Formats: sequence, C-alpha cells, structure tokens
Amino acid sequence: MKGILEKLEARRAEAQLGGGQRRIDAQHAKGKLTARERIELLLDEGSFEEFDMFVAHRCQDFGMEDSKVPGDGVVTGWGAINGRLVYVFSQDFTVFGGSLSETHAQKICKIMDMAVQNGAPVIGLNDSGGARIQEGVASLAGYADVFLRNVKASGVVPQISVIMGPCAGGAVYSPAMTDFIFMVRDSSYMFVTGPDVVKTVTNEVVTAEELGGAKTHTSKSSVADGAYENDVEALIETRRLVDFLPLSARDEAPELPTYDDPERLEPSLDSLIPDNPNKPYDMKELIHKIADEGDFFEIQADYAKNILTGFIRLDGRPIGVIANQPMVLAGCLDIDSSRKAARFVRFCDAFNIPLLTFVDVPGFLPGTGQEYGGVIKHGAKLLFAYSQATVPMVTVITRKAYGGAYDVMASKHIGADVNYAWPTAEIAVMGAKGATEILYRSELDDPEKIAARTQEYEDRFANPFVAAERGFIDEVIKPQSTRRRVCRAFAALRTKRVELPYKKHDNIPL
Ligand code: HXC
Repeated sequence: MKGILEKLEARRAEAQLGGGQRRIDAQHAKGKLTARERIELLLDEGSFEEFDMFVAHRCQDFGMEDSKVPGDGVVTGWGAINGRLVYVFSQDFTVFGGSLSETHAQKICKIMDMAVQNGAPVIGLNDSGGARIQEGVASLAGYADVFLRNVKASGVVPQISVIMGPCAGGAVYSPAMTDFIFMVRDSSYMFVTGPDVVKTVTNEVVTAEELGGAKTHTSKSSVADGAYENDVEALIETRRLVDFLPLSARDEAPELPTYDDPERLEPSLDSLIPDNPNKPYDMKELIHKIADEGDFFEIQADYAKNILTGFIRLDGRPIGVIANQPMVLAGCLDIDSSRKAARFVRFCDAFNIPLLTFVDVPGFLPGTGQEYGGVIKHGAKLLFAYSQATVPMVTVITRKAYGGAYDVMASKHIGADVNYAWPTAEIAVMGAKGATEILYRSELDDPEKIAARTQEYEDRFANPFVAAERGFIDEVIKPQSTRRRVCRAFAALRTKRVELPYKKHDNIPL
C-alpha cells in the first residue's frame, strides 16, 4: 500500500509541476502567477477540490504523442469564496502556452456542466495562446463546445472571466459571452487576430498593448469591465465581486451583516446640488454616501463615464446602481452609456439583484455622430432592459429628468416600483431655455419677453411637483433622508413577484 500511495504522490507532484520549472520561472519573470497559485489566491484557503488532474491529450501528430503533460494545460475543480461554492478553471500557460486541446476543452465543459446542475458561478482564469495548433479541427470543436455551454449557462449561473495573459482567437470568444471580464494591466491581451495578422491584412502597425491591452478594452471597446495592476489584485477584486452575486438565478443575492444603520441620515446631501442648474456635481459622492459603509464596486468605470454602474449594499443586501454622472457630458445618455447601462440592468435582473437608479439627465446627446451610430437602436436597449426587468426597482431623481431620457431612466411608467424626487428635481420635456425658444420663436428678438417666458416655464415645470401631482413621483424627499427612504422601499419590495406572459424569448434591439 505504501508503495501505491507513494506512486500517487509522485504522479500528483508531476502534474502540479505543469510545463516544468523552467517555464514556471519564465511565467514568474513576466510578473505572472501560475495557474495553481492563482487558484489558491482566488479560493478560500484549503477549499480547492481538483478534478481531472491526470487527463492527457490524445493527439498523435507533430510528435505530440511523446509530449504529454498530466492535466493538459488547465487546472479545474471547485472550491469556496467566503464559504460559498464556485467552480473554477485556470489555464496553465506553462503547458503548450495554455492552448486549448480537445481534452482541455472537455475538462472545462465538465465543470461548467456541474456548475449549471448544482447552481454555482463559473470563474475562468484565462491565459491561453488559443486553439492548440497541433490538434487542428479537434481544438476548434472543443472551443465550440465551451461556447455553447457559455450561452446555455448565461442567466443560469454567473460567469466571470479573468484575463491573465495573452488571449487570442478562440480564447476571446468564450470570455466575451460571460457576464464580467477583468483584465490585468500590462500582462493580458485580448484580440481576435494579433498585431502580425493586422499588419499583413490592413497594413496597420499596432502593438499588442494598443490593440488589445487592458486600457483598450476598459476605455475604448468596453469588452472588459475592469482592469487591475497585477494578478493578486485582480483575484482579490474577483472575490469581492462574487460576494455581491447570488450563486445562481434560483438564489437570492447574499446578505452580509452590516454595521451601517439603514436609517442613517446624511445632512451633507442637502447641499450636493449646486444653485446653478448648469453646474456639475459628482454623482459618485451620492452613491458612496448612501451605500452601506460607503462601499461601491464599480463596473466599467473607465467607459462611458457619463453613466455610472456598479454594486452597493443597502442594509446588507446587494443592489445594482445605475446613475447619470453630470460631471461627464452633463450626464447625457448616448450610444455608449445606453449600451453599458442596458447590459448591467439585464445582468441584475437575471440574477435577482434589485435596481436603484439615480437620475440627472438632460436628454439624449444630439448630433450626426450619434444618429449615424444608431443612438435610436442603442438607446432602445436601455429602455428595453428597464421595461422588461422584474426585480425591485427604486428611482430617485436628483435634478434634471428631461424628455425621452426621463422615461428611459427607470420611470414609473416602465415598471419602477418606487419613484422619489428631490425638491431640486426638474421633470419636463426639456430645459426652460430650449422650450421657450421653440414655443415663443416670434418673440426671440425681444430678450426681456423671452426672459419672462423662460422664468414662467421654470416656475411651472422646473420642479418635481407637476409629476408628483399626477402620481408619477410617489414622494418628494429630502436629500439627507435618501438612504433611509430607499432602504425602506427595498425592504417593502422584498416580496415582489411578477408573472410574465409566455414567450420563447424577447427580441431586444441588438
Ligand atoms: C500550441 C502553443 C500555442 C498554440 C503558444 N504555444 N501558442 N502551442 N498551440 N496555439 C506554445 C509555444 O509553442 C511555446 O511552447 C509556449 O506555448 C509559449 O509560447 P511563446 O510563443 O514562447 O510565448 P510568448 O512569446 O509569451 O507568446 C505567447 C503568444 C504566442 C502571444 C500566445 O505563443 C502566439 O502568438 N501563439 C499563437 C496564437 C494563435 O495564433 N493561436 C491560434 C488562434 S486561432 P514551448 O514549448 O516553446 O514552451 C484560434 C481559432 C479558434 O484560436 C477559433 C474559434 C472561434
């Protein structure tokens, strides 16, 4: 028996060494951790249960039959994050560059199937040169098997991708279909085709970093939801994200104990809105001040900064926040911000996370750039996402809520449950100046008359009371009591249930 146990230990030790010490050293020299070191940091200490440690590829071409590494370039299994079950795969760049073979794909599929069956998130730590070149179409088939599972698992369990090395070709499309993508600055890349192919086909000269680095994908393409300095930070933040999420669509989001009184008043909010309606203020300040312990986990912080999206907790329960940011483009809605917010709303709705919307929006951004880019269709995505959401929704209008953007930003009319306005709210078809110039065009050359008309419009419409008189606003609240009011509203909505008529699926304007 002793000999058998020693043999097992020897085989395990061989598998744990992956592509060998030389390649592990090379990985470390690039500032990257190994696949196993990453899993250790991601999961609670000692919680990892490995699957398929001895799986080897079956390729017989290009001398591959003599070059087998147990585990075949991906470490898979399950473990816990703060005591809650998650499934994980971690690609091992030291084994054929983490490239995906038929068996490597089968390992990933196996844990994805278990995650869906048992209702727990899947976290992929990606570090891969793409399809295993020696395996040809068998590798492409393996990718497709993973893609299909990504789609089937979408909306069933949360899927998170952390990009921790080069990800080219097929290696980017699986992450692209997951719920969140995090990248590591300066050591991770995502592109469909690399710089060399780009040069050959289009003659463009571009570095890997410019083409598909973390900055590109968090600020330009919006492919990634966040970027971190190194592997350690990326994994710690992934743990933090998981703490906000339910294990599956069948579960409620996790409630954590909080020391922050839900009845807490925040008197400083009474002076957040500047006297001049054209002066910006930082909407993030409001979010931090009403959140439990001021904690805001922002999603897509560097993209479409005119809208803020992310998670907070209120009275210990996770809440998805969407907020116009008056500091950027005056908080206008445009193509990018509509897409960003729509995706976030749909994620929260799929996973039972209630939505809190803060509104200060002067309208949709005008111009040919927006119209030619399809702002009608992209803006409709946000309208669609809110209108189909069935989770508890609370909305607070802090200042402007003009035009179509008023309707879109979780108005009562499209399904929000509790709609509050601060006394500074202005709910109207448009700003007073624009409205007067249209209504009284014939008086435009008389500045005094126009000023009087503008004042008249402001007095009548630049307030929350016209909407409140109609019941479109449930209550005009003091800014300082926002946390208390919103916490109470969400507490009252905990039992909300909505039945929808049968359909196969909707047809959101993509
Ligand atoms: C097999 C691979 C590999 C691959 C890398 N390796 N990519 N082996 N298949 N796709 C191996 C290398 O031979 C090397 O082996 C080791 O991994 C490390 O690679 P290096 O090139 O030395 O590392 P580095 O300089 O860091 O460059 C990493 C890289 C580069 C940028 C990922 O290796 C690369 O460009 N690889 C090819 C990427 C690619 O074109 N993939 C196919 C995409 S098409 P040794 O033994 O020397 O350590 C695709 C189709 C799917 O994915 C489509 C589905 C929709």
